[in-house]
Amino acid sequence: MKIILDRRSNQPVYLQIRDRISQLIDCGSLPSGARLPSIRGLAEMAQVNKLTIVEAYGVLEADGLVEAKPGAGYFVNPPELRISALASQRLGAVPALRSQFAPIQEVIIPEHGVKTFADVYTAGLQAHQQPGMVNFASGFPQASELDELARITRRAMKSLEPWFGNSFPAGDWELRSQIAQLLLHQGLNLSPEDLMITNGSMDALSLVLQTHIQPGDWVVVESPTFHGFLSQLRQAKARVIGIPMTAEGMNLELLAQYLQSHRPKLIYTISTLHNPTGITTSLAHRQQLFALAEAYDCLILEDNAYEPLNFETTPAPIKALDRSHRVMYVCTFSKSLMPGLRLGYLVATGDQQTAFLERKLLQDFHTSTISQAIVKECLACGYYRHHLKHIRSLYQQKRDHMLNALTQYMPPEISWTVPEGGIFLWLQLPAHCDVQGICKAAAAQQVLPGAGPAFFPDQKGYPALRLSFSLPPEDIEQGIKILAKLLTN
Ligand SMILES: Cc1ncc(COP(=O)(O)O)c(C=O)c1O
Repeated sequence: MKIILDRRSNQPVYLQIRDRISQLIDCGSLPSGARLPSIRGLAEMAQVNKLTIVEAYGVLEADGLVEAKPGAGYFVNPPELRISALASQRLGAVPALRSQFAPIQEVIIPEHGVKTFADVYTAGLQAHQQPGMVNFASGFPQASELDELARITRRAMKSLEPWFGNSFPAGDWELRSQIAQLLLHQGLNLSPEDLMITNGSMDALSLVLQTHIQPGDWVVVESPTFHGFLSQLRQAKARVIGIPMTAEGMNLELLAQYLQSHRPKLIYTISTLHNPTGITTSLAHRQQLFALAEAYDCLILEDNAYEPLNFETTPAPIKALDRSHRVMYVCTFSKSLMPGLRLGYLVATGDQQTAFLERKLLQDFHTSTISQAIVKECLACGYYRHHLKHIRSLYQQKRDHMLNALTQYMPPEISWTVPEGGIFLWLQLPAHCDVQGICKAAAAQQVLPGAGPAFFPDQKGYPALRLSFSLPPEDIEQGIKILAKLLTN
């Protein structure tokens, strides 16, 4: 197989390879059942990094054109399988062909001085309090059963007696043991000493930046990514490198290039149920990302706020691969229990906790003992397990409701991701679309979508919307109908 690359093209090399192989399949030069060249062989022939071929083959697989057979290689799928992959993507049954979810993007290195997270956050909260508003923009979970929670809170308050004084900065030992136990099910084998209880994950993210990042340091993020963290980076005066997200996660070919050229201190990644796209990366992607961080001696901050809301089993976090204590893992009860509790945690192994404990103490002594006692009781009495089971199935129904509404009402040029959990999906709009204009027109009809540009380091990116599906079905139906009409005109 001969592949000629245009090194001056704006199109990333892995997509050029994908396109060439896809043409060879279309014209029959690579018939059904044919084996693609080995990753190493094609990398040598095309004179590219092996990761580039892994990315290209990953996209072909996501497109339903080839199948990976463990230990044997990649094989061309028969035509009927290629067609069914296409069809099922449109129906939203499986997340195949998600590689089409985004246009080709370049790395973003933004200037400072753009709109703050506070503007977006406040607008979302205000919309939530407005009667009749369909708020697709905010990530609020389904309310818990309040009577049961009231009983749990009373027991929790009693458990605090007779000690109402301050507590240790790392948090309650029993709660840390309970969380370590929970994480064991996700493939993380930790001691309670590896965990610090924080005021939500925002606190944990901020502690990591204060401890590891100096003004001017380079930090890699996915583009798009969680806009709250982008604002924290701006405040820390870090320099940001936004590496485009593909359907498989952060583009590893571009990551390798920028690790080499800019030597960043930290990679921020949301490996499971990425905010805003909803994508969960594969084990292979996690292994490659970790190997790159090792090779360039770079820290990883893994923020899996939506991990508890999985509908499917997912690979263990990147933290599970970490023997050199370079990965810090952050999670929260905000999405699975109640954001107002402000309860999250930071996992850091080796001797990393020492610096975090000092920071935490100086910042706010410790996380609220009342919130800690409530979550501890939720975990101890089985409420949390029960509640998670309930909301996972509820959110799956809501997601399916939104997918059906999108399939029914949206014009054909709009595409979307099919997240396997969480509360958001990501809508890609045509290139000419004026996102702010659409959001304004939607707000005039009592619908608030999450404007895509907020999630890009330069607050531009490509036209997109983030939609929360944690709403009542009738709101989803009505809101999608209104958005579809605006996007059709
Ligand atoms: C990826 C991600 N990380 C962190 C947070 C902050 O969560 P918390 O409420 O626990 O501070 C959010 C909230 O939206 C998020 O989406």
